[in-house]
Amino acid sequence: MPSRPMIGYTHVTKSFGPLRAVDALSLDIAEGEFLAIVGRSGSGKTTLLRLANRLIEADGGSITVEGEDVRNIDPVALRRRIGYVFQSGGLFPHLSVADNIGITPKLLGAPAAEIAARVDELIELVQLERAAHRDRLPEALSGGQRQRVGVARALAARPRIVLMDEPFGALDPLTRDALGEDFRELHRRLGLTTVMITHDMTEAILLADRIAVMRSGKLLAQGTPAELSDSSDAYVLELLRTPRRQVERLNALLPQGGAA
Ligand SMILES: Nc1ncnc2c1ncn2[C@@H]1O[C@H](COP(=O)(O)OP(=O)(O)OP(=O)(O)O)[C@@H](O)[C@H]1O
Ligand SMILES: [Mg+2]
Repeated sequence: MPSRPMIGYTHVTKSFGPLRAVDALSLDIAEGEFLAIVGRSGSGKTTLLRLANRLIEADGGSITVEGEDVRNIDPVALRRRIGYVFQSGGLFPHLSVADNIGITPKLLGAPAAEIAARVDELIELVQLERAAHRDRLPEALSGGQRQRVGVARALAARPRIVLMDEPFGALDPLTRDALGEDFRELHRRLGLTTVMITHDMTEAILLADRIAVMRSGKLLAQGTPAELSDSSDAYVLELLRTPRRQVERLNALLPQGGAA
C-alpha cells in the first residue's frame, strides 16, 4: 500500500464465546476507495464493520482510522468521523425526517438555525423533496425514501468515511439500482471512502472499485472483479458465476437492444 490506508485492519479478531466471528483478518481500505464486502450470512461482515467505529471492541489485532489506532479515539468522536447506514434504515420512528437527519448535529450542540440549514442541504443531496418529506415520520415514507434519509443522516456530520450495512437490501431492483447509482455519485462528489456490505454480487461488481469476500470470519479474497475471476477458490468463482449466469439468461430472454 503506497500511502496510509483510510481504514486498516491488522490481524483483527473478535470472538463471541467460542465463535470467532472475525478471525485474524487483515484488510486495508484506501482513501477514496469504494469497497464492497460480500459473504454468506454469518460470515462476520457486520461484525467487521462495527469494529471500525467501536460499536464493538476487538479482542486482538489493531484497527486504524486515518492512521490512528481506534482505541485512542473517543468512540463518540470516532462515530462523528464515520457515517453509518444501517440495514433497516435504523431511523427513529417517532422523529420526523428532519429530526432524524439533524440528530447528530443536535447532539453535537449545533445552533438550531445551522441544523435546519444543514438538514435542507442534506435533503437535497439525497434527492428527497423538502416540502413533501421534511416533516413526515419515517412510517409515511417508502422503503427507498427511508434509505435516502438514512444516507442523509450518516452524512450529517460531514464524515470522510461511510460504512453501509446492506443499505439497499430490502428494495425493489429499480429503486435499488437508482439509489446505488446516486450513492456512487455522492461518494465521488464528496470524496468519501465507502465500505458497503451487500449480498448481491452484481451490485458489488457494478458499484465497487474492489470487492472483499469473507467466509467464516476470514478474508477469503479481495480485488477488482477481474482480479477475483482469476481466483482459484471455488466459492469465489461460484459467487462470480451468478451475475454471469444472470447476464446470459437475460441476453437470451430479452431482444437485443430492447430499450423500448
Ligand atoms: N452480539 C453477538 N453475540 C453473539 N454472537 C454474535 C453477536 N454478533 C454476531 N454474532 C455471531 O457472529 C457471527 C457473525 O455475525 P455477523 O452479524 O457479523 O454476520 P454477517 O456476515 O453480517 O451476516 P448477515 O449476512 O446475516 O448479516 C454470526 O455467527 C453471529 O451469530
Ligand atoms: Mg450482517
